[in-house]
Amino acid sequence: MNILILGSGGREHTFAYKIAESKKCKQLFVAPGNAGTSQIATNVSISVNDFEAIKKCVLENQIKMVIVGPEDPLVNGIADEFLANSELKNVMLIGPSKAGALLEGSKERAKEFMIDHKIPTAAYQSFTNETLAEGKQFLETLKPPYVLKADGLAAGKGVLILEDINEAKQELENMLSNAKFGVASETVVIEEFLDGIELSVFVLTDGKNYKILPTAKDYKRIGEGDKGLNTGGMGAISPVPFVDEVLMKKIEERIVKPTVNGLQKENIDYKGFIFIGLINVNSEPMVIEYNVRMGDPETEVVLPRIKTDLVDLFEATFIQKLDEVSIEIDERAAATVMLVSGGYPEAYEKGKPISGISEVKDSIVFHAGTTFKKDEVLTNGGRVLAITSLDKDYQKALKKSYQNIEKLHFDTMNYRRDIGFDL
Ligand code: AMP
Ligand code: GLY
Repeated sequence: MNILILGSGGREHTFAYKIAESKKCKQLFVAPGNAGTSQIATNVSISVNDFEAIKKCVLENQIKMVIVGPEDPLVNGIADEFLANSELKNVMLIGPSKAGALLEGSKERAKEFMIDHKIPTAAYQSFTNETLAEGKQFLETLKPPYVLKADGLAAGKGVLILEDINEAKQELENMLSNAKFGVASETVVIEEFLDGIELSVFVLTDGKNYKILPTAKDYKRIGEGDKGLNTGGMGAISPVPFVDEVLMKKIEERIVKPTVNGLQKENIDYKGFIFIGLINVNSEPMVIEYNVRMGDPETEVVLPRIKTDLVDLFEATFIQKLDEVSIEIDERAAATVMLVSGGYPEAYEKGKPISGISEVKDSIVFHAGTTFKKDEVLTNGGRVLAITSLDKDYQKALKKSYQNIEKLHFDTMNYRRDIGFDL
């Protein structure tokens, strides 16, 4: 069958890399894609939120399956648009409906869902400009640090963690009264700070059944030792070494099952990924957020460990028969290191020639922000390349990635040399 992937980052290159291997994939398209996807698929120059152009592309190219990479088109209702269209409703779109995507699109909705379905999470209250004074009073009842979350999508920047009560009150006011994050901060969730180590669990669900995919841990800060500004992610490893069977059992029983059952009870159409951000507080897993897609760069370590044909898994997802397929995982560990443009996550330059990609041996180079001009591959984003390796353990995998990075170069290239440092 012909397949379309929506997105242009390392996550989408990884999907393309796996799907191109499938016996069931005839022609593969990526919209808009990057220099990496162009080598294994046909890039189509369509934005992920241009639903009319996407529908036209699907019909013209007889596409039977669509994998939605980022959250935006899901929150904007791409799955609902396909279902409502007689020519498209049988296209196997992998991604939840708008109602399902609200678990990521609204932090308040996610918290209500967790409370309704008794899923462990931090205590919280939400506030608007009208209840600013109550919000400040609520902060007085909490111990520092204070966690403020813009309700809506804020490109990963909407969470503030503050030590000082006066600063917390001021930021609450900036968010609610001065639109610090635009409409995304018209409502703010204030929640209890959870102290523990973070990990992510990925689930593929057909709305009734689910498969738990490999765990991963990403490194969000720009600087070594987890210092400096938040980024989209500077590296990741899978599996998370401290997750044993006991912890995984708790996560499945207390979080994964009630989440999938909750979606079903609420009649929410959900055929896609659930990416659950967790904090392990004294061996008690608590949810800090839901995302309705795969993570980036977590995908770059999770998918290379899945041996089962992804197209088979997605077909089973669409026809709600995930219980009838099994999923085979590579026992090896995977690690990825992100090469970024100097200046990222703040201002950075694009268009720098990248050299050395063809010299990389024994690692996979996933393109994140790249483009090409004639035969030359150029940087085209903050996160540029993700270098993934597989080996017996994550230290060995990392060593391979770091050795290969020595061969890669672009002007201002930056990366963290300490991925996995805290494990
Ligand atoms: P989010 O956008 O919800 O993933 O939040 C961004 C980051 O803030 C998370 O990756 C955590 O490191 C941190 N965070 C969010 N909520 C909490 C919390 N309740 N307690 C401690 N840290 C948190
Ligand atoms: N790496 C975090 C995310 O994809 O949201």
